[in-house]
Amino acid sequence: MLPFVLASPTLELLAPSAADVPAIVDACQDETLRRFTTVPVPYDRSDAEFFLRRIVDDGWATGREFTWGLRRPGSGLLEGIISVRLRSSDVGFWTAPASRGRGLMTGALSLVADWAFEGGALRELFWEGYVGNDASAAVARHVGFTYQGVGPGLHPGRDGGRPLCWKARLRPGDERSARPGWPDLGGRSAGPGRPAEYRDADGVESVGDAGDGVRRPSPDPHALARDRSLPEAP
Ligand SMILES: CC(C)(COP(=O)(O)OP(=O)(O)OC[C@H]1O[C@@H](n2cnc3c(N)ncnc32)[C@H](O)[C@@H]1OP(=O)(O)O)[C@@H](O)C(=O)NCCC(=O)NCCS
Repeated sequence: MLPFVLASPTLELLAPSAADVPAIVDACQDETLRRFTTVPVPYDRSDAEFFLRRIVDDGWATGREFTWGLRRPGSGLLEGIISVRLRSSDVGFWTAPASRGRGLMTGALSLVADWAFEGGALRELFWEGYVGNDASAAVARHVGFTYQGVGPGLHPGRDGGRPLCWKARLRPGDERSARPGWPDLGGRSAGPGRPAEYRDADGVESVGDAGDGVRRPSPDPHALARDRSLPEAP
């Protein structure tokens, strides 16, 4: 599969390339990004080059995983990364620290969902994020994902374990607006129907009080730039 572009009037998603290495390396110094993803720590040029070669290029070539860089129209600057894995139908993403809070990832996830469903590539799209990753949950919630519950992550964390994740799902017919039922997202992006407690849903394992504020080491489930020591996620 050759990389293709997804675009809206405010955003362009293009496969990242070698010219983006400095921006990727820069973003991956961020503590928040490190905390909520499995990017290698420390992270340098060789990690970004590995990511471009093994995740981005191989993913497009095999059709296994599609990865785009977020750019604003007319700007060459890479401001984030979003990826969708076809086999597990799940998305992963990060936004560079200086570009956060401007709706970039909400727009990018909407574009990816439009593509996935309009082209019939996927019948559902899954998001999961480390319990306590309020900003990531806010993005999924904005796009219309339905919160499903808490369970072990699909993909291993840095320590090889399966960290606790919030999980949500989007289907083609779903309204693209915030749905009730999400945990309290730290007082921001919170909407109607905040649950008093977490609930089981569709096979998602409930593990009790996930609202305890505990932030456990966790991967980006999509392992956008994997620790080389980790096995490939299924
Ligand atoms: C999660 C992330 C990708 C969001 O990117 P972004 O481009 O800032 O996303 P948007 O601007 O579209 O939306 C961010 C939403 O999160 C909210 N948000 C940001 N920080 C938050 C926080 N600490 N607590 C709660 N909500 C928060 C914003 O207020 C915004 O919601 P709003 O529009 O209702 O105000 C970015 O914060 C990031 O890269 N984090 C580190 C890596 C990561 O966690 N990746 C996801 C792994 S599952």
